[in-house]
Amino acid sequence: MAIPTSRSKVEAEIRIDTGRCTGCGRCVSVCKSFCLVLKDHKVALSGTSLFGCIGCGHCMAICPAEAITIQGRELSPDDLYDSPPPEDAATYPQLTALLQRRRSIREYEDRPVEAPLIEAILNAAQTAPMGLPPSDVNVVVFDSLEKSRAFAQDYVTFLKGLRFMTSKFFLAMMRPFWGKSNDELFRGFVSPLFSMVIDDMEKGKNDITYDAPVLFYFYGSPYADPADALVAATYAMLAAESIGLGTCMLGAIHPLIQYGAKAKKLREKYGIVCKSREGLFLAVGYPALNYKKSLKRTFASIHYQ
Ligand SMILES: Cc1cc2nc3c(=O)[nH]c(=O)nc-3n(C[C@H](O)[C@H](O)[C@H](O)COP(=O)(O)O)c2cc1C
Ligand code: SF4
Ligand code: SF4
Repeated sequence: MAIPTSRSKVEAEIRIDTGRCTGCGRCVSVCKSFCLVLKDHKVALSGTSLFGCIGCGHCMAICPAEAITIQGRELSPDDLYDSPPPEDAATYPQLTALLQRRRSIREYEDRPVEAPLIEAILNAAQTAPMGLPPSDVNVVVFDSLEKSRAFAQDYVTFLKGLRFMTSKFFLAMMRPFWGKSNDELFRGFVSPLFSMVIDDMEKGKNDITYDAPVLFYFYGSPYADPADALVAATYAMLAAESIGLGTCMLGAIHPLIQYGAKAKKLREKYGIVCKSREGLFLAVGYPALNYKKSLKRTFASIHYQ
């Protein structure tokens, strides 16, 4: 049985050119769906795979003889390209310089982000590991300040309708269901945030998307692993940083637009095709302020076993 995703529910087709196959076995090693075996010094279909070909393309990418191709689940031989040479890849010092220079940016120049840069960010983000192929991550792009601001205003209007969630009565009622940490988070963070965001928007100050000239929303389909969209958003963030843009991940929108008729209406208005277990908005723009200092960050714990 093929693994279902929103884009494909069938197995991909494996084509073998036995004339080219040297029997090196590389494809057999990398196929973790166990579709392939070596038989008489040539690759052959195992016939015992649990899920069939998932269309990961690893066999096609590893084969030195171009003897195996995959067609289906949104993959085709045309998707193969030569990997950039190792000397072109960022070194550890280059990568950590990029990571250490990054700060969340919430002040943007009043300057649009050029369309080719938006494309470049999307292209880089599509290289992210995104769970079972084909990727089930969807992206909404608000590619101008007018569009991102209109969305933020609509979202804040929507928040006004959810204000009951910050009342003492509602919080006391929910406490036994959603536990201590959620109760603390709502009382100490979400409730005051609601008030601030709504009041500020009425004064023309956008604390939700900070009037970023570009806004991306990454979200998974109901079939996707919840982490997929977050990984993709992280790649987009780093790609934007590498081309001189500032970014800020915005976690305050996604969870609240999942449930209820008004949330559905908002999603439909902005071309969000489904509810999603996880998703993340990413604000992007030219930084109006540049940091000359970085800050050391640490994990809550690192425990070697
Ligand atoms: C999942 C996630 C959600 C976030 N949500 C918001 C948000 O809604 N609004 C905001 O201003 N910053 C948000 N941030 C940014 C963090 O506040 C930021 O990373 C933190 O202030 C640390 O600063 P730094 O990114 O410069 O290290 C979010 C970050 C992550 C990873
Ligand atoms: S595409 Fe992936 S699952 Fe399909 S045969 Fe190749 S390695 Fe196996
Ligand atoms: S990697 Fe290519 S050449 Fe090697 S066994 Fe597989 S199909 Fe044959």
